[in-house]
Amino acid sequence: MLTPASGPDTAPATLPAGDRSRFRSVAVVGAGLMGRRLAGVFASGGLSVTLTDSEPSVLPEAGREAQHLARALGDAPGVVRTTSRLEEALEGADLVTEAVAENLDLKRTLFTRMAGLTATAVLASNSSVLPISAISAGIDDPSRAVGTHWWNPPDLIPVVEVVQGESTSPDAVADVMALLNHLGKRPVWVRRDVPGFVGNRLQHALWRDAIALVAEGVADAETVDLVVRDTIGLRLGEMGPLTNADYVGLDLTRAIHEAVFPVLDRSVTPHTALDDLIRAGRLGAKTGQGLFAWPPGARQAAGAALAAHVSSELAARRRATDTE
Ligand SMILES: NC(=O)c1ccc[n+]([C@@H]2O[C@H](COP(=O)([O-])OP(=O)(O)OC[C@H]3O[C@@H](n4cnc5c(N)ncnc54)[C@H](O)[C@@H]3O)[C@@H](O)[C@H]2O)c1
Repeated sequence: MLTPASGPDTAPATLPAGDRSRFRSVAVVGAGLMGRRLAGVFASGGLSVTLTDSEPSVLPEAGREAQHLARALGDAPGVVRTTSRLEEALEGADLVTEAVAENLDLKRTLFTRMAGLTATAVLASNSSVLPISAISAGIDDPSRAVGTHWWNPPDLIPVVEVVQGESTSPDAVADVMALLNHLGKRPVWVRRDVPGFVGNRLQHALWRDAIALVAEGVADAETVDLVVRDTIGLRLGEMGPLTNADYVGLDLTRAIHEAVFPVLDRSVTPHTALDDLIRAGRLGAKTGQGLFAWPPGARQAAGAALAAHVSSELAARRRATDTE
């Protein structure tokens, strides 16, 4: 049986029972793509929410979108208020969720400010990859700092990775998980605070090799994406990699690893092919060119298609569970 690596920062194997009732009022800092939707999900569970952003012009629309989402998701939604003043947003909040840009210095500075404004609230970060221990390193009491990695679109994707930092108290993890359960989410406990947590560590192992395959001329970008979508992509929704390893047999898995591991990309820095594209202004959908061409409207269409796919996949799973 696989056993976890032991070490001084190995977290306990169980959590206390969580208490969601400590959370009545939530502040969401950063009202961009994720923050406004997180505000909507929190409000859908009856919590009172304050949404704030350093760019005041985004707040009216973000607040409307959040309130609209809360009404669409919940029977008795709480109210979403907006303010451009962090002090005002954090007043009375029991939980603060940060969803500003993915930049460690920015998040660390913000956490220090947030910790100075509230002595008791649980402080959560929606970082996609940055360890909560690094984000909260400068605050007096990092036991109340928790990683909560929601996936986009956060109102649809059920799993939220709840990350235990080196100093995070098990109670803070358990209470946040209880709240997420109340919101209809499927929180999972990530016991050790590694960059990328579980999901993005795995996802970007795949992306690293996808980019390397194109850069090495093994296949073009269309082919790589087609192979992923129509082979492993079709299977992954039903069978995760570890179940699949057992399913095909660990002896076969080992033989495959022996043959393929020597050629896997092992770079510890981003691929130079990405640097070349970025230098050429080819950032992807937002600039119209990246690995693919993105004509006007293609980005919105891709976002809508992704949301529709996730919704129909989840609906199919619900139907399958209902008929079991
Ligand atoms: N976009 C995704 O698919 C996705 C998925 C999961 C997690 N995340 C993570 O969520 C976080 C937010 O991502 P996003 O895509 O919503 O970003 P975004 O750029 O859409 O929004 C960020 C918002 O934060 C605001 N902001 C910046 N500095 C601020 C400050 N000091 N105080 C208050 N507001 C500030 C900006 O004005 C902007 O409105 C990032 O950590 C990202 O890695 C993103």
